[in-house]
Amino acid sequence: MASNININVKNAVIFITVCVVILYFTGIPLLNKQLKFINMKELLSVSIEVAERGGIRVKTVRESSSLGETSKGKTKEGVNDVLTAGDLQSHLTMMNGFKLAFPGLKVISEEHTKKTADFKMDTSVPKKNSEEVASLTKTETVPLADVTVWIDPLDATKEYSENLRQYVTTMVCVAVKGQPVIGVIHRPFTGETAWAYVGVGYSSNLKVAKKEDLAKEPHKIIVSMSHAGEVKNLTTKKLGGKVEIVSAAGAGYKTLEVVKGSVNAYVHTTLIKKWDICAGNAILRAVGGNMTTLKGNQIDYSGAGSPLNDKGLLATLADHAKYLIIGT
Ligand SMILES: *[C@@H]1O[C@H](CO)[C@@H](O)[C@H](O)[C@H]1NC(C)=O
Ligand SMILES: *[C@@H]1O[C@H](CO)[C@@H](O)[C@H](O)[C@H]1NC(C)=O
Repeated sequence: MASNININVKNAVIFITVCVVILYFTGIPLLNKQLKFINMKELLSVSIEVAERGGIRVKTVRESSSLGETSKGKTKEGVNDVLTAGDLQSHLTMMNGFKLAFPGLKVISEEHTKKTADFKMDTSVPKKNSEEVASLTKTETVPLADVTVWIDPLDATKEYSENLRQYVTTMVCVAVKGQPVIGVIHRPFTGETAWAYVGVGYSSNLKVAKKEDLAKEPHKIIVSMSHAGEVKNLTTKKLGGKVEIVSAAGAGYKTLEVVKGSVNAYVHTTLIKKWDICAGNAILRAVGGNMTTLKGNQIDYSGAGSPLNDKGLLATLADHAKYLIIGT
């Protein structure tokens, strides 16, 4: 009798062990699968909050006694590539925001640091259902593996260090299978956030110009201060004279000028980084404009391969094909 009970206990132990082993190898991966998809509206909501949290650091450091400025070297145009505490604090805050909301999400930032935060970081989980996105009636759920998020914790750092605040932005872009789908451009010093989700909607503060209202001539071209002369020569030659060059800083700022219709095109002829242009590319797509290389090719934001785009840039709200002559 006693030995019988013993055998039953032994069997039960073996049975339970087998169950645990089976659950471990099949059940847990099944549970994980539910985390392998992401809701784009929730990701948009979080992206807006993350860009704004970065902006708070950018503004706070600018208004503090020291920017903690160092140099990352020189850019190809020979411009001093500055790095400030604003860049780093914004980077740490933005990376952490995404990590809190969506662990496992692939995020590529302009900045890298081994330092930990030496300031008070917002450690609450960003909201997945904010008021900003409440009006959107459509959304999609996509595999997490298809998503790449690009962040620029502080665009126009040089101008930031010179206190030219109007050019400064923080940006978030969500690419799905390499295509820009969500763009967020936040202006820390005015508090405005422009955002768009391709095919679904965009923020009401994006005052999109009517294509037919864009002046045809002179062709107004917005260009980076670092190579305005070169673009002026090139565009004047290609477009036949009537060109007006507007030089400005910040890729985010320049793209918003295109959306507003202040200029006909944003042209860049030298190397530009994908975290500088991805958010603007998504916003332009969402409002019916276009952004391509100067040869008219789409830019891949999958994150596979180089984060640099060395094929030039053309961004327009209308007449994209016409302006591609600049790149021929
Ligand atoms: C633009 O063209 C002018 C006149 O041909 C020339 O002097 C100048 O060096 C050119 N500038 C650049 C940046 O290519
Ligand atoms: C953007 O421009 C490229 C090159 O002209 C063109 O192939 C593409 O269809 C355009 N996309 C949109 C949405 O206009």
